[in-house]
Amino acid sequence: MNEIRKIALFTSGGDAPGMNAAIRAIVRTAIYNKLDVSGILRGYEGMINGSFIRMDSRSVSNIIQHGGTILKTARSKDFLTEIGMKKAADHIAKNNIDAVVAIGGDGTFKGAEEFKNYSEIPFIGIPATIDNDLSGTDFTIGYDTAINTVVQAVDKIRDTADSHDRLFFVEVMGRDAGQIAIYSGIASGAESILIPETETLLEKLINTLESGWNRKKSSCIIIVAEGDETGGAFEIARKVKERFTQYEARVCILGHIQRGGSPTAMDRVRATRLGIAAVEAVLSGQKHQMLGIVNDKIVFTPFKNAVKQHLPVDAALIRIPDIVSV
Ligand code: F6P
Repeated sequence: MNEIRKIALFTSGGDAPGMNAAIRAIVRTAIYNKLDVSGILRGYEGMINGSFIRMDSRSVSNIIQHGGTILKTARSKDFLTEIGMKKAADHIAKNNIDAVVAIGGDGTFKGAEEFKNYSEIPFIGIPATIDNDLSGTDFTIGYDTAINTVVQAVDKIRDTADSHDRLFFVEVMGRDAGQIAIYSGIASGAESILIPETETLLEKLINTLESGWNRKKSSCIIIVAEGDETGGAFEIARKVKERFTQYEARVCILGHIQRGGSPTAMDRVRATRLGIAAVEAVLSGQKHQMLGIVNDKIVFTPFKNAVKQHLPVDAALIRIPDIVSV
């Protein structure tokens, strides 16, 4: 094992609240262990372009509470090419980097796995995406903040839905996973939650709305994951409006509001624990592993296994709206 003197870190893919807390923890843990630290700007783009900056304790002061990422982020197409990977490997070598910590999601770790063909540099990954769609961790950084953002928004929508006796279709992020939808839907008391992991049955939805109407519900909230196979909130709203005219219907797409904002305490703590663990993993010779938190313990998963979760969502969660929104 080569001696580790200098590490680099970057954020990549969609930003997630808590990335800054992870950056802070990595930089400070590296300094605590007498390592030099470089930040790479805009993820793999910066690795290709050589955008490396020296980081010290003060460069991560006063960031733990901020959303976004001070290192910026990108979804690099060039990194998927042989030329891109070769350039990135050259810059890693020129900057005397001994190990890299990557903060991101599925695409970030697939990139790191592929990069093994171009560089022997050890990579450690920290899962950060609002989608919570990775295997090998119970929660990704940013998820807790995102679901709390959705709940705050739906609480507001409920005020206007109730005042006007309306049906609202609220679309939340999660292009392949219904994790944001299911947790935020339960927490906001949604009457129905539509997710890609289960087949959306129009009949069942209409029945739910009709029985609510018959029980004198004055308004309803349907949470729709953007990845639901119905094609999103506008499409399902259109189909429902054709069959169910009792309530006036409106659609609200929450969009990127879910990616910003100050991270929750939970996201800051998870990011800090994972950031410290990542540097310690590098120092103990680990490579090509994503760190995660499972049953409140730090665990390692090889990048190739830490891919998006396409596991069924717990059936016990799926039945909740049917029980508690009668
Ligand atoms: O991966 C996180 C995520 O926010 C998804 O939920 C969403 O589908 C996607 O990113 C949006 O990506 P972009 O900001 O690149 O449009």
